[in-house]
Amino acid sequence: MVVDREKLIQIISEKSIMERVHQIADDISNQYKSEVPILIGILNGSFIFASDLVRAMKIDCEIDFIKVSSYSGTKSKGTVHLKKDISADITDRHVIIVEDIIDSGLTIRFIRERLLDAQPKSVSIVTLLMKPELVEIDFDVNWVGFEIPPHYVVGYGLDYDQKFRNLRGIFRLGGK
Ligand code: IMP
Repeated sequence: MVVDREKLIQIISEKSIMERVHQIADDISNQYKSEVPILIGILNGSFIFASDLVRAMKIDCEIDFIKVSSYSGTKSKGTVHLKKDISADITDRHVIIVEDIIDSGLTIRFIRERLLDAQPKSVSIVTLLMKPELVEIDFDVNWVGFEIPPHYVVGYGLDYDQKFRNLRGIFRLGGK
């Protein structure tokens, strides 16, 4: 399916995203006062969220990235593959996983389990978006930017076949 930029429908504005990113960054900064957490961004989708989040934080922190794949077009392939592991040693560290969107929960479950294997001091999760009607997980998501209906969305790092990551707001594909 070819998706036309003009047919995208904005559901969250750049202003609302930035306000929420600052609220979450303040909350994380308060919670980890006098600690240096390591944020692990999930590539590619979270690269913009992760960079805005770290720059809004008021404490020292480190950042690293992990890359997995599970989606093709708007469909999950049902299995998650590790494409790039983290470089940092997270043993005994406070880890914060930074996700762009939690849909079924498959990706976040896979990454959380993998990071827990390295015996960090703690693992928490921040996601910009969550589709609560679809998600099936048995652990807490510590910070959720916005809960959204189960439509496929793009922008602010999220893609449709690698396009639209550079849009400043969040948009849903038109025609539904
Ligand atoms: P889950 O494993 O089903 O929770 O899906 C999580 C991953 O799928 C995210 O990291 C995204 O890469 C991708 N994804 C899920 N829903 C969307 C969407 O609506 N737009 C863009 N990417 C999505």
